[in-house]
Amino acid sequence: MGESHLPSPVSFAAFFLFFMSMALWFLPESAIAAKNADIMKRHYKFDIILQNVTRLCHTKSILTVNGQFPGPPIVARDGDRVVVKVVNHVQNNVTVHWHGVRQLKSGWSDGPAYITQCPIQQGQSYVYNFTITGQIGTLFWHAHISWLRATLYGPIIILPKRNASYPFPKPYKEVPIIFGEWWNVDQEAVINQALQTGGGPNVSDAYTINGLPGPLYNCSAKDTFKLKVKPGKTYLLRLINAALNDELFFSIANHTVTVVGADANYLKPFDADTLLIAPGQTTDVLLRTKPYLPNATFFMAARPYFTGLGTFDNSTTVGILGYESPSPIFSIKNLPLFKPTLPNLTDTSSATNFTKRFRSLASTQFPAKVPQKVDKSFFFTIGMGTSPCPQNQTCQGPNGAKFASSVNNISFVFPTVGILQAHFFGQSKGVYTTDFPTKTLVPFNYTGTPPNNTVVSNGTKAVVVAFNTSVEVVLQDTSILGAENHPLHLHGFDFFVVGQGFGNHDPIKDPPKYNLVDPVQRNTVGVPVGGWVAIRFFADNPGAWFMHCHFDVHTSWGLRMVWIVLDGELPSQKLPPPPPDLPKC
Ligand code: C2O
Repeated sequence: MGESHLPSPVSFAAFFLFFMSMALWFLPESAIAAKNADIMKRHYKFDIILQNVTRLCHTKSILTVNGQFPGPPIVARDGDRVVVKVVNHVQNNVTVHWHGVRQLKSGWSDGPAYITQCPIQQGQSYVYNFTITGQIGTLFWHAHISWLRATLYGPIIILPKRNASYPFPKPYKEVPIIFGEWWNVDQEAVINQALQTGGGPNVSDAYTINGLPGPLYNCSAKDTFKLKVKPGKTYLLRLINAALNDELFFSIANHTVTVVGADANYLKPFDADTLLIAPGQTTDVLLRTKPYLPNATFFMAARPYFTGLGTFDNSTTVGILGYESPSPIFSIKNLPLFKPTLPNLTDTSSATNFTKRFRSLASTQFPAKVPQKVDKSFFFTIGMGTSPCPQNQTCQGPNGAKFASSVNNISFVFPTVGILQAHFFGQSKGVYTTDFPTKTLVPFNYTGTPPNNTVVSNGTKAVVVAFNTSVEVVLQDTSILGAENHPLHLHGFDFFVVGQGFGNHDPIKDPPKYNLVDPVQRNTVGVPVGGWVAIRFFADNPGAWFMHCHFDVHTSWGLRMVWIVLDGELPSQKLPPPPPDLPKC
């Protein structure tokens, strides 16, 4: 990796002050262990309130949890029960999703609006109640309605069970690094206007690291995330991409990290200079600091990996890695500053080379239980399309139509009540149908010349599978209105990514090449631009599970669908009834 050497434009005067606030973010394992020695139930209260926040010289009133931006971390051990009372004090309808938490038999606590619950209205509250089971590492929580995730998000930190350890050297400190996306204007107005006109939404004004855009933006130098480290130590960085619409490359100048976890699953460790992280993904990396004081500071930078056709925010967010001098006579002011070189914004080969290195740890202690046989296989096309412009309106989408996106050419329409509730009480009539096609109805050359007709159909359709079905899904990108890398997220499950490639999936030639030994297990996968992935999972969790592109703009346009997993025979395989405070529509 190349670096350039340049004089520091950044003042370090605030470094010490800053470290007072950093203390909140560091999570020394021993401190947590001591504080929660015997606590298995972890209670949180999330008050959704407005808070004035200023970035890039723009002050706006944003939705926050408890006035914090980014929101407070949830910390738990594997096996703990987490109870979060969410109280909505604002006018917007709100739900919170615990992204990646498997929610075994606690589907009522999953959070996507109109899928597992009706929204929490102003003045109402709802208690989310779930147990972390067999997951270790990093996840995150975020609002799951419209684009409220823009400001309502925070880390979920899952520590090993008491007396269990990491399958890597114990880190000296742990630091969440959560990427976000900042709009100077109200992002709700941005998406509402786009849905109205049919055009693409305005792009964000900045990316952020722990809520701070950093020194490369106007009026932002003071809003820079600074990480102060000691030489010769190992830090566990918990990277989270909470941005709305952008995958990000990330690199720390002059430092190589070891990737050890993804989406709360351990990996076979590998070293990397540059990482790629899609919205909805988390990556745990070990940063080994230099053995001696380097007498320099280092940029940690993130900017997009973009494969679509429209406009996007092509800016760069930067944080600063600084070494703490043991002696106060050495000042870190005016030290040389190193910058990382990030891949080009459209560098698909860097992206692919990185993602194909992910492998499950697949050890005796952490086996990879990959479905070897498939009971039900599905072939879903995912991508863009159009909806006709309503009469007596002019639209700003392609050829005067409106942008839409779809799975199997069906753009999912939200019902007005929760799907899970309708399913549980046998009241699906008029809410949803169960005829979501198992494979695309009209086969075409998905990644070749796109068909002339790009119009999607609309529907509220679910796929229904029996308990414990072994499921394979091939997700095939299409070139309609441009191929694009889509970060597909499945609620309620971690799936194994058994295969991926470019072009059209070949049902004869590709399956024999699948990795059924140690494929990565995660909840969000980037479907390669103009390519496909094959995922497998056991449908061992009864409920209604949303699957969608984690680009919020694509979710808004309809790239979303629902799986319904039926109860099993045994009482332990049934979804319990909803809690009494489940919000009503
Ligand atoms: Cu992180 Cu359905 O989302």
